[in-house]
Amino acid sequence: MAISITGIRPTGTPHLGNYLGMFRPALALAREHESLCFMADLHALIDVRDPDVLRARTREIAAVWLACGLDPERAALYRQSDVPAICEAVWLLSCVTAKGVLNRGHAYKAVVDANRLNGRDVDAGVSAGLFGYPLLMAADILVMDADFVPVGRDQRQHVEAAREIARAFNGAYGSVLREPTELVDDRLMTVPGLDGRKMSKSYGNVIPLMAEPDELRRCVMRIVTDSRRPEEPKDADGDTVFSLYREFAPAGDVEALRARYTAGGVGYAEAKQALFEVLEEQMRQPRARYRELMADPGEVERVLAAGAAVAAERARATLARMRAAVGL
Ligand code: TRP
Repeated sequence: MAISITGIRPTGTPHLGNYLGMFRPALALAREHESLCFMADLHALIDVRDPDVLRARTREIAAVWLACGLDPERAALYRQSDVPAICEAVWLLSCVTAKGVLNRGHAYKAVVDANRLNGRDVDAGVSAGLFGYPLLMAADILVMDADFVPVGRDQRQHVEAAREIARAFNGAYGSVLREPTELVDDRLMTVPGLDGRKMSKSYGNVIPLMAEPDELRRCVMRIVTDSRRPEEPKDADGDTVFSLYREFAPAGDVEALRARYTAGGVGYAEAKQALFEVLEEQMRQPRARYRELMADPGEVERVLAAGAAVAAERARATLARMRAAVGL
């Protein structure tokens, strides 16, 4: 049976953009396919330096997975760091990987380009970890023998790199590794944040996924809109409030609101209230479950231990093939 794998870096409190771009599509896949879901805490080490923060965020992400409906009986949920075979695989893979594959990595290149622009040394602030990011991600995927990797457009290159790296290994040693395929849903929109730019922690424009009603309302009311009056026709697709509403409300309600935007006759205050209500209705239960899970670390730990056992067994089998292939 085909297996899909999703990793999320625990680098910040999850927001609606993460939910729509990562959690929700992965949860949908997990209902149809065998799946592996993990917290990429080793990847987070590239920029998280506080051990308590790393632990807390990793647990937060695990609780979000479970609160949003991941069934741990059907999908293995684990911490990347609980599967040390991944790190051993990194080395075996690195020895067949052309350095050029890493030079092209967009996370690394973005820093290099910024350095160049600012007249700094090109490698200023670049750790070997950042440079090797695609290798670690390839190991995550390849060691689990995964077939599919659902990712946002920004991660497509990393899955392509994983496939290229698998081919390099197979080219050198025969067919040992399964070549993964990225699943990029082109219908997935770029989720707009409060100011209309892409919702991102680094822009400070996020709506936290597990916000309490007060905070949720405050965030929604702060969404920037144009200054059209209620009676004026509006551009539904160009509006952040509508774009978010569309993702959560039932199709009939979405079309009704769209018609009112187009014809004129709905004010942004009313649209924001409708968005707040649909978000609150859909997040109320997951949020309550999330609070329970965060209050009882033992339950999350039990799920993660079971998930790690499943993942470690898959990794052990692949790594045994890899070690034998290279002569260890
Ligand atoms: N790089 C991914 C991101 O930032 C996270 C990730 C790490 C991942 N390893 C993975 C995703 C393996 C899918 C498969 O979003």
